[in-house]
Amino acid sequence: MSGFGRYDWQFVITNCIMLVHIKDLVSEAKKNNYAIGAFNITNLESVLGVARAAVKADSPAIIQVSESAIEYMGLKPITHIVSTVAKNVAASVPIALHLDHGTNFDTIFECISSGFSSVHIDASNLALDENINLTKHVVKVAHAKNVWVQGEVGAIVGSHGDIKSKLKEIPLAKLEEVIKFVKETKVDTIAAAIGTAHGIHANEDIVFSLLKAIKDKVKIPFVLHGGSGVLDAKIKKAIKEGVNIINVGTDLKIAFCRTLIEVCLKNREEADPRNLLKPTIAAIERVVFGKMKLFGSAGRAVGNKIET
Ligand code: 13P
Repeated sequence: MSGFGRYDWQFVITNCIMLVHIKDLVSEAKKNNYAIGAFNITNLESVLGVARAAVKADSPAIIQVSESAIEYMGLKPITHIVSTVAKNVAASVPIALHLDHGTNFDTIFECISSGFSSVHIDASNLALDENINLTKHVVKVAHAKNVWVQGEVGAIVGSHGDIKSKLKEIPLAKLEEVIKFVKETKVDTIAAAIGTAHGIHANEDIVFSLLKAIKDKVKIPFVLHGGSGVLDAKIKKAIKEGVNIINVGTDLKIAFCRTLIEVCLKNREEADPRNLLKPTIAAIERVVFGKMKLFGSAGRAVGNKIET
């Protein structure tokens, strides 16, 4: 018997959370015209890579998990690993935890109760009125617990880690739908299909006229999905146009996999997994560090550690 009853675990969890609320990061980014990277993590190595990059760049960071990452690692291990790494590896910089593309109510509500300060409800593949209804439901529950909600209009195509050269079609969100959705749901941040796609694709782009029109009418922070595979110059322009969060997943997966494959091929007799995995942490750190400089979040964490 460990001696820990339910109450004690609750106590431990509450006191281990060293994460900041996403609203603190995003409001600073909005005020100072830069973007925060929301990095999809898949394992301990990617959490360490993001945390080390944040410290090196002196940058705030959003660590986000998809439902498939939760299925792989478990929700409790994720919240414990992320909050412990934030506390022990990256105490000098603010890190927030976010659920990416939540489609399952149980998972969304579990994240709301587990230390996430923001959840994404992605009902964008449904008719607009259904998307609005489901999102409103999540907003009601999340806001009662001081958790932010990201909504999505116009499904963002592609899938994380997908590196096919060309997508058949990249549909765009309709401006009127984005305006109506934000007004009715009261979400805190908005993602909309503006030409990018998940994964790396030759024909993904940013339709700046649509981004400008959305930013003109919708004042809440805009989240750019599909950050991998978009030209740096376009990313910079998007930030100038008011993008405050940029999601990056595939670039981290590629850095991890390519490095691991290379190291394994070169060290076929290695018997200590850590020697094979350490270079993957460094590879992710390099990618994330570069993104933080590109997004303008590097150097923004000084004296900026805001705790919730
Ligand atoms: P990429 O995989 O293209 O970087 O997109 C990540 C993302 O948008 C997660 O929601």
